[in-house]
This record gives sequence, structure tokens and C-alpha cells, in this order.
Amino acid sequence: MAHIDILAIESSCDETAAAVVRDGREVLSNVIYTQIAMHTVYGGVVPELASRAHIEKINYVVQKALDDAGKTLDDIDAVAVTYGPGLVGALLVGVAEAKAIAWAADKPLIGVHHIEGHICANYIEHPDLKPPYLGLIVSGGHTHLIIVEDWAKFRILGRTVDDAAGEAFDKVARAIGLGYPGGPKIDKVSKEGNPNAIVFPKAKVNGSEYNFSFSGLKSAVLNYLNHAQMTGEEVNKADLAASFQKSVVDVLCEHTVQAAKEYHITEVALAGGVASNSALRAGLAEACEKNGLNLSVPSPVYCTDNAAMIGVAAFHEYEAGTRSGWDLNAVPNLKLGER
Ligand code: KG4
Ligand code: ZN
Repeated sequence: MAHIDILAIESSCDETAAAVVRDGREVLSNVIYTQIAMHTVYGGVVPELASRAHIEKINYVVQKALDDAGKTLDDIDAVAVTYGPGLVGALLVGVAEAKAIAWAADKPLIGVHHIEGHICANYIEHPDLKPPYLGLIVSGGHTHLIIVEDWAKFRILGRTVDDAAGEAFDKVARAIGLGYPGGPKIDKVSKEGNPNAIVFPKAKVNGSEYNFSFSGLKSAVLNYLNHAQMTGEEVNKADLAASFQKSVVDVLCEHTVQAAKEYHITEVALAGGVASNSALRAGLAEACEKNGLNLSVPSPVYCTDNAAMIGVAAFHEYEAGTRSGWDLNAVPNLKLGER
């Protein structure tokens, strides 16, 4: 059988990435140029700077992805690109690049949803995973609990009503002086802390079974810090970080297990930047084990933004007949399941 090799491009936030993926499973190359060092100085992603850095690096990153895979554009069957959600200026760089390449090389163009890409990252290392299954996507911009009903069909059970989980990690890290990006730093410092030292509120939403709310938890952490400052109490950063992290992990695990029971689903897949969090990986693995659920988690390099996951999602869209027109545009607020 002839293979389908897809050149995929991702530039929705602060990673300029390109990859070549074969048949939606095999990563032939995966090049990521991260802008984290540049944004760290400002304590977060500066959209204008992100767009400019993407435009500088994108040709190099795409060429390297082709070279690493030992491919030329002639060998490629389609060009895929993240067209939303994300930062509009950042997305536009990838979209314009993909359109130019697809047009010049006379290849089909496939616009991919960023969140669909995150969940599809699981297919790379879990060849047996197939729909239907439950997907928990936790990243810097999104927190979604979904049922993947078919390869390119999703039903949203719950989402965050305010901050995304990763955003909460980043904000709490900033408040305790750990810097950007906060997720990996909280993860690390938590290893020295007691997760039961401080009881923070659960990130639940009253009256809504599967939605999440992280802004109340974030405020509780800030209030705790303010109170300690006013009373001159010493704050144990490791305990605070570990307790905050536990609150986030607990609610993510509880919602997932509850949904698996309600919908009689035994397969669960975790995805998104926060999926590289060690406490979440361990906590969800334990919760799944206890409840007879089978869990897939991508390697950390496929959790944070990358183009390999976009190439995997694009393969399934390609098989479903999805083709984008030359008028493909960036859609910063693209909803999952919309085109
Ligand atoms: O998926 P991603 O790379 O970008 C978005 O699509 O948003 O996720 C980035 C988010 C950031 O908020 C970062 O702090 C968080 O993922 N993150 C982590 C860890 N590694 C990255 N959060 C908790 N623990 C980690 N180890
Ligand atoms: Zn992402």
C-alpha cells in the first residue's frame, strides 16, 4: 500500500514547528523551535514578538523537517497547518507558509484544529488506540473533556468556564516568583512540597457536572499569599505549589473517571501541554487503574506544542476527505468540531 506522507506546520503560539508524518502514526521528522527564552523576559507570551519570531524561523524549520525526514516536496502527499485556535498573528505565519508551499508544489492543503492535533498526539505511540474514547485535553489555552466519537468527530462534555489549567499554573508560578512558563516550574518545586499542606478549593463549577473553573482556585492562592504577607508569615513555596497542583489534578481526575462511568467508556487519552505534568500523569494513571480504565498519554515532547500531532490529525482529515481552499484563514477562536 502506498504511504501518505504529510508535511505539517504549527505556529499557533510560541513554538515554530514542522514535521513529516507517515500514515498518521509514524513521525519521520519533528522540528520544534521554541520561543520560550524570548518571552520569559516578559513573564508570558508577547503576541507581536511571537509572530515576528515565527516569520524569521519558519522557512528554516520547514526545510529541516523535510531534510530530517529525507524527503523533498515531491514526496509529500499533502501540506497541513494549524489554522486555529491560537494567536491570530502567529497562526497567520503558518497558514501563509502552508498555502505558499501547497500552491507552489501543487499539493492538497489541510487546515487542522489545534486541539484535534493535541488529542491525536496519542496515536503516535499508542497504535491500538482508536475511537470511541474519552479525551482530556489540558493546555495553556484550553481545558476540554471530550468523547472522541470517531477519528474526526468530537463531543464536548465539559470545558473550562474561565482560565485554562495551564494558564492557572502560569499565573500561580508568577505569583510565587517562579517565572514563565510556570507549569514545568511548579511541577518541579512541588516534588519537594506536601500536597496536603494547604486545602485549596476544587476547580469545579456548581451545577455543571463536567465543566472546570480555575480562576477561583487561582484567587484562593493569591489570597493565601496576600494574607501571609500581611501577617508576616513565611510561605513555603513548595507546599503551596504542591497543594495547588493537587487541586488541579484532583478535579481533572474526578471528572474523567465520572464521565467514563456515565458513558461506559474504558479508554482514556490525556493530551496538551499540562499532560506533561508529572503529578497529573501519575494521578490519572492511578485513578484509571483503580477504575479499570485504560490510559494513553503521549511522551512529553508530543504533549507541548509540536507539528507531529498536526500531521497525525491531518492524516485522519485527509482520509475523511477534508481539503482546505486557497482562501484558508486563521481562526483565533475556532471551536472544536467546527470547520
Ligand atoms: O499545549 P501547550 O504547549 O500550548 C497550548 O496549546 O496552550 O501548553 C502550554 C501550557 C503552559 O501553560 C505550560 O505552563 C503548561 O502547558 N505546561 C505544564 C507543564 N509543562 C507545560 N503545566 C504543568 N506541568 C508541566 N510539567
Ligand atoms: Zn497547544
